[in-house]
Amino acid sequence: MALNIVIMAAGKGTRMKSALPKVLHKLAGRSLLQHVLNMTEGLAAQRSVVITGHGADEVEAAVAAPHLSFVRQMPQLGTGHAIQQAVPALEGEGTTLILNGDVPLIKQATAQRLIEACDGRALVLLTIHLSDPSGYGRIIRQDGKAEGNVLGIKEHKDATPEERAIREGYTGMMAAPTGALKRWVGQLNNNNVQGEYYLTDIVAMAVAEGVPVLGIAAPNETEVLGVNSPVQLADLERRFQREQAHELMEAGVRLADPARFDLRGQLQCGQDVEIDVNCVFEGQVSLGDGVRIGANCVIRNASIAAGARIHEFSHIDGEKAGGVKVGAGALIGPFARLRPGADLGDEVHIGNFVEVKNSSLARGAKANHLAYLGDATVGERVNYGAGSITANYDGANKHRTEIGADVHVGSNCVLVAPISIGAGATIGGGSTITKPVAAGELSVARGKQVGIAGWTRPVKKR
Ligand code: UD1
Ligand code: MG
Repeated sequence: MALNIVIMAAGKGTRMKSALPKVLHKLAGRSLLQHVLNMTEGLAAQRSVVITGHGADEVEAAVAAPHLSFVRQMPQLGTGHAIQQAVPALEGEGTTLILNGDVPLIKQATAQRLIEACDGRALVLLTIHLSDPSGYGRIIRQDGKAEGNVLGIKEHKDATPEERAIREGYTGMMAAPTGALKRWVGQLNNNNVQGEYYLTDIVAMAVAEGVPVLGIAAPNETEVLGVNSPVQLADLERRFQREQAHELMEAGVRLADPARFDLRGQLQCGQDVEIDVNCVFEGQVSLGDGVRIGANCVIRNASIAAGARIHEFSHIDGEKAGGVKVGAGALIGPFARLRPGADLGDEVHIGNFVEVKNSSLARGAKANHLAYLGDATVGERVNYGAGSITANYDGANKHRTEIGADVHVGSNCVLVAPISIGAGATIGGGSTITKPVAAGELSVARGKQVGIAGWTRPVKKR
């Protein structure tokens, strides 16, 4: 049976007080709308239609995908009016699932339940029992009984005081028989307090036609909460982060404090991984067995092998998936910065205030203090001294530095690329190296020390 999915995302989101369309605001690093779209991927719909309006160009550009189509609703005259615009895009006589672009945490299992209960025949409403259902459309049931047949939905603003006392609200999500839905939305009017075309008025039409109407309760509040304001966005963010943190802990990851953990993407963890407080993970991150992450690290698109230790306040940014690699048993930080293309072998040590970009360091290489390695290939066991840098940029182009195995680079050296330093060579501290260094030699390139005996310091003139 054909499945259509319609996602309403035309609303303005006035209460966000933002120039960005509401559905593009981010939760855990992804837009609200993208959360909904990702959830629908597993539902195998024949058609997925996003209704856009406010900021339509921006919204469509942000989420465009081959399987998605867009329908524009201008102006926005209500949810019923929104679905009217989508009618020509709907296929077949099966089921149409209606979701909201600003309700990001709806789960696939719940959507699946709506689809199955609809089965192309029934009108299925996802409902929620709330202690304060203000603003929600109320589910009107026969004789006001919890198990009574659904008779209709009354919008909050149109509801009587008695109806407002009903705690069961409509979540804004439903599954409807496609053919009937098209017919019903064609019959809507805007004779109501808000002068809008209410999609929720189709419920009474279904009842009048004898079409079965089911109200299914959502499994929890988090799945159906919408975002209308920065406060609500932050609340959902925390709920989502708590959920992710709990899943990781269930899988054995030891989080020092699940309330101080943020994951904006995917985190894969081996056994006995420990993560201290205030760490942020973004994009695709993998942590091997026994990896320990110190407090206040930001780690994005990186794979960190077993036993590596990332000390406090380190910033690892791979830019793209797999962009930074840290080998087994490596020690990073505190205060280290690994940038895109940093590829560190096993047992590499990167200490405080060391920046590594687009460089590979082979097993056992060390750069422990205040250094820069950019566009470099560093051999095994190299010791790269404090304050040394690769001068990789001539103002126009980037050049590479090759450092052979067992090289010792003293402190405060400038290696002017392109340059190569042969295996086992030694670079004297304070050298500016502009010519290739042969294997095994000592290279010193700095002013010779001069000693002037009996030197009298200048004295202040009166
Ligand atoms: C709607 C429901 C209400 C339900 C509530 C749940 C109607 C008439 N009412 O009310 O029963 O309890 O959601 O949150 O449906 N949208 C458009 N075009 C429009 C208007 C809205 O695309 O012309 C989109 C919005 O962007 C949003 C969704 O539809 O994603 C819901 O719109 P909103 O204005 O929030 O509806 P409510 O009045 O809250
Ligand atoms: Mg709303």
